[in-house]
Amino acid sequence: MAIKKVGILTGGGDCSGLNAVIRAITRSAIIRHDARVIGIENGFEGLLTGDQHELTIKETRDILTLGGTILGTTNKGNPFEFREFDDAGNIQIHDYSDKAVANFRKWGLDCLFVIGGEGSLEIGHKISQKGIPVIGVPKTIDNDLEKTDYTFGYQTAVQVACDALDRLQTTGRSHDRVMILEVMGRNAGWIALEAGIAGGAHILLIPEIPYKVDNIVKKIQLRKDGGSPYSIIMVAEGAREEDGDVIVQKTATDRLQGVPQLGGVGMYLAEQIKKRIDLEVRTTVLGHIQRGGSPLAFDRVLGTRLGSFAMEAAAAGRFGNMVALKTPDIVLVPLSELAGKVRKVPETSQLIRTAESIGINMGREVW
Ligand code: F6P
Repeated sequence: MAIKKVGILTGGGDCSGLNAVIRAITRSAIIRHDARVIGIENGFEGLLTGDQHELTIKETRDILTLGGTILGTTNKGNPFEFREFDDAGNIQIHDYSDKAVANFRKWGLDCLFVIGGEGSLEIGHKISQKGIPVIGVPKTIDNDLEKTDYTFGYQTAVQVACDALDRLQTTGRSHDRVMILEVMGRNAGWIALEAGIAGGAHILLIPEIPYKVDNIVKKIQLRKDGGSPYSIIMVAEGAREEDGDVIVQKTATDRLQGVPQLGGVGMYLAEQIKKRIDLEVRTTVLGHIQRGGSPLAFDRVLGTRLGSFAMEAAAAGRFGNMVALKTPDIVLVPLSELAGKVRKVPETSQLIRTAESIGINMGREVW
């Protein structure tokens, strides 16, 4: 059956490269497959509210370099567990998935492209089990999705974090300070690890390796004794002390999105270090700067390849899959193989070995 009309939505948090994917799907659908494209606004919520409009070549012109998404917001609404405040300010959860399916059919769509991270792709999988032809496209700065070498948006975030570290190096050295940079990544340490190595961090803390403050302070002291009183610490927001918890700003139950808001480990660490060593310690929280703005060439190319291949897969009727980078190819992976899985940095990662082999302290007793 020739594919005539497809829908695209972007779900979860944004990242650089979303528009590159939207553009590639749209251009390939129109140019190669003579199909129409519907852009669904505000993530899965648009499937419920009916906010959608036709995407054309003209509308997707000049968006390759644009951050964010042209499809409204990357809303975190989940049609299976839709969270709303009631009049008393309490969060109520409803299953509106039948309505999402009904709208998909009403609009006469032959395929739904879900561009999202782990949460959105899981919703995509559930909706495909309700008979909707879905193709997933993996996005997230966290790079924590299984079955793909990289997610688009990740390399851009790493570069932003690395640039920040470069700047902290020069100012930290100029004042003999301990400079801490807290980066995103949720429960995975990929951004911190790669940016930390690239930016020459002296101490690098990731969620996968619980740290001891004493080890960090020892490393700072060793550097000081060796004539380098300044130190640069890269810490992932999800890093935690041995026997400690991840630091959260807001718990899942406090947030409409239903996921905790991490953050604060950089400040916590600064307090702990100050108690133990006579040096000035300063913290920078990089935050959403890692997600906004123009994608690096790598993410533009990856987003374009994934979008183009997703459209090919739709034309071939290969639904229920996610497109993935298996270097050097783009391949299809069943959405069912991803459900509920997060790819953390493995303990045996060569990146960890590399970092420690060149003297970066990872919060444990390896000098
Ligand atoms: O998953 C991407 C991400 O940027 C994480 O690294 C971070 O913990 C989270 O999203 C922040 O989400 P929000 O902007 O909703 O607080």
